[in-house]
Amino acid sequence: MAAPAPVIAVDGPSGTGKGTVCLRLAEVLGWHLLDSGAIYRVLAHAALARGLDLEDPAALAGAARSLNLEFLAGRAEGVLVLLDGQDVTHAIRTEVAGNAASRVAAVPSVRAALLERQRACRRAPGLVADGRDMGTVVFPDAELKVFLTASAEERAQRRYKQLKGKGAGVSLPALIKDITERDERDRARSVSPLVPAPDARVLDTTHMDIEAVFDMVMGMVRERGLSR
Ligand code: C5P
Repeated sequence: MAAPAPVIAVDGPSGTGKGTVCLRLAEVLGWHLLDSGAIYRVLAHAALARGLDLEDPAALAGAARSLNLEFLAGRAEGVLVLLDGQDVTHAIRTEVAGNAASRVAAVPSVRAALLERQRACRRAPGLVADGRDMGTVVFPDAELKVFLTASAEERAQRRYKQLKGKGAGVSLPALIKDITERDERDRARSVSPLVPAPDARVLDTTHMDIEAVFDMVMGMVRERGLSR
C-alpha cells in the first residue's frame, strides 16, 4: 500500500498566528488545508440555529454525524464555508460562535463523530492541519508537529486589532476574559485537551510578527525535507 500523504500539524490556541501560517504553508507547498476549528464552529452555528441544547451530548453528536458541511477552496476571496448549501463563512467567525464551538468541542461523542471527516482530508500531495489536537489525536503520525503559543494578553491584542480593523465595537478587557475562559475550557477538557504532542516543536510567538513566525515554521518544514 502507498504511504499516506504527509501531514504538517499546527496546533495551539487562537491568536498565535496559526491560521495565517497554515494558509500560507498550504499555498506555498501546494498542499490541502484542514481548518478543523471551522468544523467545530459550523457545528456550533448549526446547533444554535436549530435551538439545540449545548449541554445535550446526544443531540450534539447527532448533529455532528449529519453535519452537511463543505469547504470551497481556490477562490480569490478565500475559503468559502457552506452549511446545508448556505454560506456561513462570516457567521462562524463571531465571538459567540467561537465560544459555542469550544463548548461543543468539549463533548467526547462530538469529537469522535468528527474524527474520520478530518482524517479523510489527508490527500496527496500533503495536508496542512490547523487545530488543537492535530498532532496528538487526529494525525499522531504527522511528519512535522508545530505548537504555537503566545501570552493571553498578546493574543487578545491581536484579536482586538483585527476586530477594530473590521469596524467592530469591542473591548480589550472583555476579549482577554473571553480568550482566557476559552483557553481554560480547551486545556481542561477530558478529551483531546489543548496540549503540545510530546514530539511537537513549541514556538512562543508573543514577541514575533507573523512574517517571523512563518519563516521559523517554513525553516522547520525545510529541515524535515517537506518542501521541494
Ligand atoms: O481555531 P478556532 O478558534 O476556529 O477554534 C474554535 C474552537 O474549536 C476552539 O476554541 C476549540 O475549542 C475548538 N477546536 C477543537 N479542536 C480543534 C480545533 C478547534 O477543540 N482541532
